[in-house]
Amino acid sequence: MNTRIFLIGFMGSGKSTLGAKLARLIGYEYADMDQLIEDTAEMSIPAIFSEHGEEVFRKWERDILAELCRREKLVISTGGGAPCHSQMIDLMNKKGTSIYIQLSPDALKDRLIRSKTERPLIKGKSETELLEFIKTLLEEREFFYRQATHIVDGISLQPEDLARLLEFPG
Ligand code: S3P
Repeated sequence: MNTRIFLIGFMGSGKSTLGAKLARLIGYEYADMDQLIEDTAEMSIPAIFSEHGEEVFRKWERDILAELCRREKLVISTGGGAPCHSQMIDLMNKKGTSIYIQLSPDALKDRLIRSKTERPLIKGKSETELLEFIKTLLEEREFFYRQATHIVDGISLQPEDLARLLEFPG
């Protein structure tokens, strides 16, 4: 079931960085769902949210996942909300292996404050508001994230740890 490896988790958990490195390490192709949506729409994620709305973005996420499930030997970094709607976590687990990169709300807040990626869901929030927002949303989303095939601690996580977990020869 390792033919498609889905990295899931909250915004800022390191899915994209780890995913690209893991793919290189195990000789798989790499796909970033957000990037693919932006390329297809020829628009940034913030522009998609403001011009089309979140509902349209979520539909495009579903469409991109269906397309990715037709490809093989692929590491996929998903958007933070992707496994949490349209039975997408079920599809990921059916078509491959999912790994939840778990971090505490405090660790996520610190990473998101430092991140340069523009994220419409957290735009303009103060540090205190951001922490509250993360706590609330993470609590809802963990119901889905916890259905992953594997759950790993995101602190100091290296691509080699993931390769070992998936039993790729090192
Ligand atoms: C979202 C996370 C983002 C992106 C969009 C919505 C979310 O991806 O898909 O801004 O709902 O958590 P990252 O998890 O890569 O930041």
